[in-house]
Amino acid sequence: MASEIREITQRFERIGAHSHIRGLGLDENLRAKEVADGLVGQKKAREAAGVIVKLIKAGKMAGRGILIAGPPGSGKTAIAVAISKELGKDIPFVQVSASEFYSAEMKKTEALIQSMRRAIGVRIKERRIVLEGEVTALDYNMVPNPYNPTQRIPESASLTLATKDEKRTFSVSGRLAIQFLQQGIEVGDVIMIDKESGRVAIIGKSEKATKKYDLGGVETVEIPSGSVEREREFTYVVTLNDLDEANARRGSIFSLFGSQTREIDNEVREAVDEQIKRWVEEGRAELIPGVLFIDETHLMDIELFAFMNRAMESEMAPIIILASNRGISRIRGTDIVSPHGIPVDLLDRLLIIITEPYKRDEIKKIIEIRAEESGIKLSEEAKEKLTQLGEENSMRYATQLLAPAFEYAKLRGSYEVEVEDIERASKVFVDVTQSSEYLREWEEKMIKE
Ligand SMILES: Nc1ncnc2c1ncn2[C@@H]1O[C@H](COP(=O)(O)OP(=O)(O)O)[C@@H](O)[C@H]1O
Ligand SMILES: [Mg+2]
Repeated sequence: MASEIREITQRFERIGAHSHIRGLGLDENLRAKEVADGLVGQKKAREAAGVIVKLIKAGKMAGRGILIAGPPGSGKTAIAVAISKELGKDIPFVQVSASEFYSAEMKKTEALIQSMRRAIGVRIKERRIVLEGEVTALDYNMVPNPYNPTQRIPESASLTLATKDEKRTFSVSGRLAIQFLQQGIEVGDVIMIDKESGRVAIIGKSEKATKKYDLGGVETVEIPSGSVEREREFTYVVTLNDLDEANARRGSIFSLFGSQTREIDNEVREAVDEQIKRWVEEGRAELIPGVLFIDETHLMDIELFAFMNRAMESEMAPIIILASNRGISRIRGTDIVSPHGIPVDLLDRLLIIITEPYKRDEIKKIIEIRAEESGIKLSEEAKEKLTQLGEENSMRYATQLLAPAFEYAKLRGSYEVEVEDIERASKVFVDVTQSSEYLREWEEKMIKE
């Protein structure tokens, strides 16, 4: 029996800067190729990430986490994005910055648990009775609209559906008939009606109708065989957080609109967990643990770390990937100093991947890839200049100069970026170390006055 899959889980955030990344670029033996899938160098980290993808797919990472540690701009987020690409789109991947946990709208632990539950998918299977077949006759019984007599609306309709083996005629309500009109359903369409909810879906045009009228550009489908009335299995993918929100609203889980941000009672989450466990036992649902990537981990404080450590032990926890550019530093909210500012009991659970600063030729290659991805042409000298800026400042700074430099090139009436365009862009846009240096000087002056 065919099934229909509706995806709601994917929520990629802020990955514009990483759109060139398609995967980890490894061979069958999990060895990193020098340049592949949009990634350059950083081989050890990519190979480590490759093993982790294997472990995640085999379900052997439960209760564990990953820390990607390295200087700013060394590709920590890039590696995490590559991991998500390797996992495939069936596995939820949620990206947040630890700064997002602090808001006026909800407690920080609440924000964290919601993020964790957004990273767990639930594939729900549902059996429903549907009517399915080719529309061979459709007659509306039109009456004046009681609210606007100049309009005519269907009071009811008579619908004949045919499969290869059966033909049945139904008398349908005005409500359903209006849906037919709105969707433009006509003879020759193959449709499916959910018998209980009355939801109508057009599957396509029947082959017969397409041949007869020579319709171009419409999807042609085979006329179904068997009976018109049949049982169908549907598959929905939602996240635990979707279910929490729906249950908190006491609505149906299939009416998932709007994304309110608000706190959810723990009882609601417990009830959802109980229900999911029951569904899993009954074979009606399947859990798909995904990945929660938390950038800027140093912004998490001791309370968040403790909460997360506990939550990671639950059977309904996602795989956590943390990213940090701090060395030995203070754990926020304490006077305790520890590696990466992360408590040792959490560190014990983490597999650690290190990203190293890039070498000159790697920076150059990454700039080339980013330029190509953005459709920007660079002269050889311009490429050299950007590489130099990447080495002296940061790679992020260099890649960010691409777009404004291209604008300057266009102003000159050229579609190739030259050194002068890069220089002009680097004069107006400063690197973050320069801007913080400037503000520090400014502060000193203000204090003196
Ligand atoms: N090895 C790499 N190959 C290709 N592009 C990379 C690589 N490492 C980083 N980048 C790109 O360089 C930019 C900065 O890297 P990013 O992952 O944001 O660094 P970090 O998260 O460590 O601060 C991003 O646009 C990223 O996609
Ligand atoms: Mg990053």
